[in-house]
Amino acid sequence: MTANQIFDKLWIEYTKLNPSVQQVYNLFINEGEVVENDHIAFRTFDDERINIDVLSKLFIKAGYIEKGTYHFEAKKLFAKHFELPGNKNAPRVFISQLKTKEFSTYLQQTVTTALESVNQEVYNSDNLIFKGRVWEKPSIKTYNKLREESEYAAWLYVYGFMANHFTVSINSLKKYDSIQKVNELLKSSGFRMNDSGGEIKGSPKELLEQSSIKSEMIKIEFDEGIFEIPGCYYEFARRYPEANGELYSGFIAKSADKIFESTDFYNK
Ligand code: NI
Repeated sequence: MTANQIFDKLWIEYTKLNPSVQQVYNLFINEGEVVENDHIAFRTFDDERINIDVLSKLFIKAGYIEKGTYHFEAKKLFAKHFELPGNKNAPRVFISQLKTKEFSTYLQQTVTTALESVNQEVYNSDNLIFKGRVWEKPSIKTYNKLREESEYAAWLYVYGFMANHFTVSINSLKKYDSIQKVNELLKSSGFRMNDSGGEIKGSPKELLEQSSIKSEMIKIEFDEGIFEIPGCYYEFARRYPEANGELYSGFIAKSADKIFESTDFYNK
């Protein structure tokens, strides 16, 4: 698969589950903008069957190379980002993994049980990143218990492998050329921003500013019945040039930490 084919397929699954993302996309299109992706992000656990090395395989085959590594201390995450050399418009790929060994025996066992209920062939498949949850139907009780330790783990337990978020490149917008203008447009159109740690994460000085809308509530079939929980979210990023004039291309763990909270549970 080419990079474009991968992103098109991911976009279909992502917008099918999260109709509000398509609404935001359409909002920009109706404003006459061309929407390009700054990056696309995935979540996973650090188990060797499904870790970053496994999820990045399809992108590596499409020509992507590793460009940076990151540690999110508070969230207990390790992440890598990948780029497609020779194509500045290709979205970056950001993949994080939860350091499960730093959590309770309960969390570790829940992850292991879920992973072991699935045939290894599923993890070997090139299509893993499109498959969503590959293990059995989740339990709301388990979801809520995981949330006490890690909202990230709880989200991943329910949704599995898919784009956790796409990110609009503000640098490629014309009329909405600042993160403030983008946020105002979203709020005036009725979308809720993730304001944990402020609406804007990062600063021009750090060469990267990011914001995001809160994940919309999605009806999910659990063992115990249907419950609404947050799905995926949509992110917005503006990059600034480095001393050499080239746009900064990395990520900043310190300022992006709170953006993971876009999928935290909330009351509607
Ligand atoms: Ni992101």
